[in-house]
Order: sequence, then structure tokens, then C-alpha cells
Amino acid sequence: MAKESLTITDNRTGKTYELPIEHGTIRTADLRQIKVSPEDFGLMGYDPAFTNTASCKSRITFIDGDKGILRYRGYPIEELAEKSTYLETAYLIVKGELPDKQHLDAWVHNITIHTMVHENVKKFIDGFRYDAHPMGMLVSTIGALSTFYPDANNIFDVESRRLQTRRLIGKLPTLAAFAYRHTLGLPYVYPDNELSYTGNFLSMMFRMTEQRYKPNPVLERALEVLFILHADHEQNCSTNAIRSVASSQVDPYSAVAAAVAALYGPLHGGANEQVIRMLMEIGSVDNVHKRIKEAKAGEKRLMGFGHRVYKNYDPRAKIIKRMADEVFDATGRNPLIDIARELERIALEDEYFVSRKLYPNVDFYSGLIYQAMNIPMAMFPVMFAIPRVSGWMAQWAELVRDTEQKIARPRQIYLGEDVRQYVPIESRPKPESREDAVSAAI
Ligand code: CMC
Repeated sequence: MAKESLTITDNRTGKTYELPIEHGTIRTADLRQIKVSPEDFGLMGYDPAFTNTASCKSRITFIDGDKGILRYRGYPIEELAEKSTYLETAYLIVKGELPDKQHLDAWVHNITIHTMVHENVKKFIDGFRYDAHPMGMLVSTIGALSTFYPDANNIFDVESRRLQTRRLIGKLPTLAAFAYRHTLGLPYVYPDNELSYTGNFLSMMFRMTEQRYKPNPVLERALEVLFILHADHEQNCSTNAIRSVASSQVDPYSAVAAAVAALYGPLHGGANEQVIRMLMEIGSVDNVHKRIKEAKAGEKRLMGFGHRVYKNYDPRAKIIKRMADEVFDATGRNPLIDIARELERIALEDEYFVSRKLYPNVDFYSGLIYQAMNIPMAMFPVMFAIPRVSGWMAQWAELVRDTEQKIARPRQIYLGEDVRQYVPIESRPKPESREDAVSAAI
């Protein structure tokens, strides 16, 4: 049998080293023994954006980007989207197994009793300007929850971890809906615990004067599916953020706030909003070729296309694309769908996109569905954050329990000035000669 090791010869010294290979990886810390002199710090790996570095061992989500496979705890995303509910999938992600009936009922009950938020939360949402972005409000209100639950600091206590997980999954839809209602100047709608997780969310978003809000079952189910598809996605930017921040052993509310902040960016959770903006800018099927040309010239990216991991059709995009028509039957057709389909058709035949393996990702069709449901664009990343909290909490618990983990602290390659002596202000060079150095710094 072939030996599970890597032999490296350092051409600077002629020395040879043998490093063990485990799970198809070497430990970069093993490189440190490779030195040119005893004072040498030792060899490091350089990997900006962690494109080829595993930061953890995980048992939660499996992705094979080349084959377009996504599984939670071993279960294919297609099966979960077809047969499961969001809360059942959240149970699977957090606890590792599908629940039996009794455990599922208890889990749903335990989350549903945590849908209310402290009345003071409403007061600080009131403090935001009328046009505050709901994602900004969500980052702040989740961070603020740590002040309501100081018990959350007991991160090594399993009961505390379970409680914070139930609280966060329960409260996210409430915080999200309150942020939305604030932007419209509408009164907040309290949770209705008789409704399903997604039905209650629709009620908190859209209920007006009716005694009881009755969610449209097609939209309720569509939201379940969208929530299942967004529940986890292994070591993406926001998951890396929660793991990195939580490695300092801060409470999970502060760590989740960091994850939501990461999700806010246009290259991550903000992409579906950019897709709609792009489709509106294109305006008609006739203009699609022009936009493709601009993307190929490197002038404007095709939003909702391409993925760091998937080099095949994103399996989540396939499911959403199929679901779009069902939603449009209930809501009325979103006219942007024709532009989207034409854009996809041309891009999938175009050499530029084919050779770079650029396929539609989860965000390409999700925004069209949210828009048809009357959810405004600013809420799109919020719609991503609500279900992702189950994945974040599972990843957080895995990190906390992992004895190999420590405070995250990457190395750097220092390319700055060598030691310099302080120069009194009156003796420093004239501003013109400093301009290049200063503008290079910020
Ligand atoms: N449109 C046009 N060209 C693209 C696109 C695009 N959307 N994405 C990548 N490329 C090109 C890129 O210019 C580069 O070409 P070249 O080799 O000639 O320089 C090549 O494809 C590789 O791109 P990259 O930037 O090295 O790829 P990456 O892995 O760093 O970026 C990405 C991944 C998702 C940030 C990028 O594809 C992108 O910006 N897509 C649009 C934004 C988007 O849809 N984001 C949502 C991601 S899915 C949701 C989530 O998981 O958060």
C-alpha cells in the first residue's frame, strides 16, 4: 500500500523531510520544522482567502463542487427540499440525526416558545432611522441579545449551548420581521405560535388588520424549501466569520452578529439583490447579449453566476428554478424571469462561461421568488440569514467542542518597513513626497 506521507526536499539546504498525510491534507504546522538556520521561524503556507486550506474538521455539510453535490449530515439536499421541513432540517444540522416524531415535536415546541423578544428590543429598533437597512438592524439587534442573556457566556455548558441555539432559531424571524415593519412605519406583529415557522414569519411580515393571518400554503412551503436550501453551506465567508470570532470564546450572540455582518456583503448574502438590480437594468430579453458581452469584457460580473466551490450547476439553484413557476402561479408571474432564463441559456452555451465553469448559483433565482412574494430587495440578505442561523449554531457548537481548535490567529508575510527611528514632526519630509506612501496605505 502507498505510504500516506509527503516527502519534501528543501533546495535551500538540501535537507529532506517526511510529512504525514491525513484525510488528504498535511498540517501546515509540520512545515515549521523546515528551516535554513536554527533562528529561522520555519516555513509557512501562504493562502490568501483560504482557497486551499482546511480550517477545521467538520461532520455537518458535504459539498462536491465539481459534481454539484450538497448534503447535510449525509442527506442529499434534493431529498430534504422535497420531503423535510425547515425545522426538521435544522434539527438534523444541529443534532446530527433526523428526529423521531417525539423529538421533532419537542424541538418545534422548544423553538416556538422562544419566538418572542424582550420589549426593549422594539425600543432600539425604533431608534433606527426610517430608511435603515434591515440587515444593519439585524446585525445590531442580534449582537444586543447578548446583553439580555448573560448566561450565554457559559459556552462550555451543553445545556446553555442548546438554549441559545433554540433562542436564536426562534427569534431570528421575529427580529427580521420587526426590522422590515420598522422601515415601513408599520406596527410590529407579535409571533403567532399556532402557525408554522414560515407561516408565522409571513404573518409577522404581512399581517395588517385581519384578526388572524392565513398564510398562502404555496408560499409557506416555498419558504420552507428556500430555508432548507440556505440552512448551511460548510466553510463559507459567514461561517468562517462565526468560527473565527467564536474562537475567542465570546458568547454566541456576538459571534452570530459577526456572521450576519459577513453575510451582508454583495459577494455573499447580498448577491440576490444584485441579481434583481442587474435584471432590471437589462430591462428586456433583447438586451441580454449586451450584458453578456460586458461580463465577458470584465466590465460587469454576471451576478448570481459563479461560485468558489461549485464548478457545476449549484444544486440549490436547480431546485429553486423548478419551484419558481409554482410560486408565480400563486403570486403572478415575475416578468424578470424571462430575462433571467434567456441570460442563463446564453451564458451556458458561451465559451467564456463554459471554460470558467460559471453556472447559476443559489442567488440567481431566489431573488425573483422573494420579489414575487412582495419581499423587498433590502430584505433578501435577511431572508438568507434567518435559516442560516441553524448552520452557524451547529458550526459554532462543533468548534467549541473541538479540542484541536484554538483562538484563530493567522500568520502574515510582513513586507513593510524595517525598523525606523521616530522623526519629530518639524523634520518630516514635505507632504508631496509622502503622498504616494500614504495613498498606498489607505
Ligand atoms: N461573471 C463574469 N465572470 C466571472 C464571474 C461572474 N459572475 N464570476 C467569476 N468570473 C470569472 C472571473 O473574472 C475570473 O476570470 P479570469 O480567470 O479570466 O480572471 C474567473 O471567472 C474566476 O473567478 P474568481 O473571481 O477567481 O472566482 P472566485 O471563486 O474568487 O469568486 C464569486 C466566486 C462567487 C465571488 C464570483 O463568481 C462572483 O463574484 N460571482 C458573482 C457574485 C455572486 O453571485 N455571489 C453569490 C455567491 S453564491 C452565495 C453564497 O454562497 O454566498
